[in-house]
Amino acid sequence: MPAGIGTAALVDPIAAAAWLEGAAVYAFDALKRELIAHGAPGSLIERARSAQQDERRHHCTMSALAARFGAAVQPVELEPVGIRPLFDVALENAVEGCVRETWGAAVAAYQGECATDRAVRRAMRSIAEDEAEHAALGWAVDAWARSRLSPEEGERLTAARAKACEDVFAQEDAPLELLGLPDAAARTRMFAALRPIWIA
Ligand SMILES: [Fe+2]
Ligand SMILES: [Fe+2]
Repeated sequence: MPAGIGTAALVDPIAAAAWLEGAAVYAFDALKRELIAHGAPGSLIERARSAQQDERRHHCTMSALAARFGAAVQPVELEPVGIRPLFDVALENAVEGCVRETWGAAVAAYQGECATDRAVRRAMRSIAEDEAEHAALGWAVDAWARSRLSPEEGERLTAARAKACEDVFAQEDAPLELLGLPDAAARTRMFAALRPIWIA
């Protein structure tokens, strides 16, 4: 562990971030299988497969960083989900893909510039590029799914996206300088820039 930086406040967020990257491997595996089951274009399926590989890499990168800071990452053991109706897939995608991946890409880019720890900056710059592609995939899946759903279902997706957007803003991360997590003022600026994308 680097001297003097193994505080509980740092350990928890980095271990949680590493665990979430591992969980994302399962999420993209589910998305890939459900896209196949619902007859999605091959390009979307291939992008989901590629995102799954990215998340596996992110899990390794973040787990290594966590270990460096003395944080233990819990094993990621999730049951694979079955194939759900297209609306359920689209609903999860509206929240996790359109909102959370987009926010995650913005935060990772911020960390890539602002983390005071050089290894964190390097890791987050690389992760931010991948997360931006995952966000773009979320929006592409959203557009495809809407073309297969009713106008009413599309409105429910839009409402879920707006709700997720407010939830993201309400959630607070400790603005740890070593990790470069944005403080309240930076979060407000980033949110203001992204809100028009989420709430059309
Ligand atoms: Fe990731
Ligand atoms: Fe991602």
